[in-house]
Amino acid sequence: MTTASTPPAQPAPPLPLATGRLVLRTVLASDGAAIGAYCADPEVTRYLPFAALDAEGLAERMARLVAATAPSVPGESLCLAVLHDDVLVGDVMLRLTDRHGPQDPPAIGELGWVFSPEYAGRGFATEAARALVDLAFTHYPLHRLMARLDPRNVASARLCERLGMTREAHTREDYADRDGTWSDTAVYGLLRREWAGS
Ligand SMILES: CC(C)(COP(=O)(O)OP(=O)(O)OC[C@H]1O[C@@H](n2cnc3c(N)ncnc32)[C@H](O)[C@@H]1OP(=O)(O)O)[C@@H](O)C(=O)NCCC(=O)NCCS
Repeated sequence: MTTASTPPAQPAPPLPLATGRLVLRTVLASDGAAIGAYCADPEVTRYLPFAALDAEGLAERMARLVAATAPSVPGESLCLAVLHDDVLVGDVMLRLTDRHGPQDPPAIGELGWVFSPEYAGRGFATEAARALVDLAFTHYPLHRLMARLDPRNVASARLCERLGMTREAHTREDYADRDGTWSDTAVYGLLRREWAGS
């Protein structure tokens, strides 16, 4: 039931998504081996908030990814497996982060992506992320999408730029890195009107 303090639930997103070369669908428990293979690689997780995953870490991550199918309120996520020719090549994420007022639907979302290095450099991450951006703006009444990344993560920054996002900020030493140091953050943003005009 919707009460004065409960914003209306968002309907589940229309899935799967199909692009020229890819299918994006919700993550299944049986994707664990494929996701575990690239998330165990320290080069892949170098700029991610988690270290290379062991079996326990993978089980925790899989539980989160599998459950992230129909975000409705800030704090909830949509996680999608990306398949090329039926092979899982990566995963993408949309997290709803904020809304205008307590009664309003979500208005801001954050994007994330992790791809297997076996499939790097073919534009798969760009193609999948574009599909997710289109879904984010067509299915949710979002005003803004953002991505936050370590400025040393050049591949991820280039991906943001291919998506038409603007580099809006570089904040210094605001992120507690796993090695006990402080890292900088680059913030990229894309407004609905920019997406609609692209
Ligand atoms: C970030 C990440 C997804 C980017 O992967 P990627 O392979 O560079 O991205 P794409 O799959 O879109 O491929 C783009 C590259 O392929 C090339 N390419 C080839 N065919 C292409 C096509 N049809 N369309 C677009 N690009 C194409 C592009 O020129 C680009 O190369 P360049 O960066 O040297 O110019 C990947 O590095 C990754 O998973 N990193 C680890 C996880 C991580 O750090 N995630 C982000 C945390 S913020």
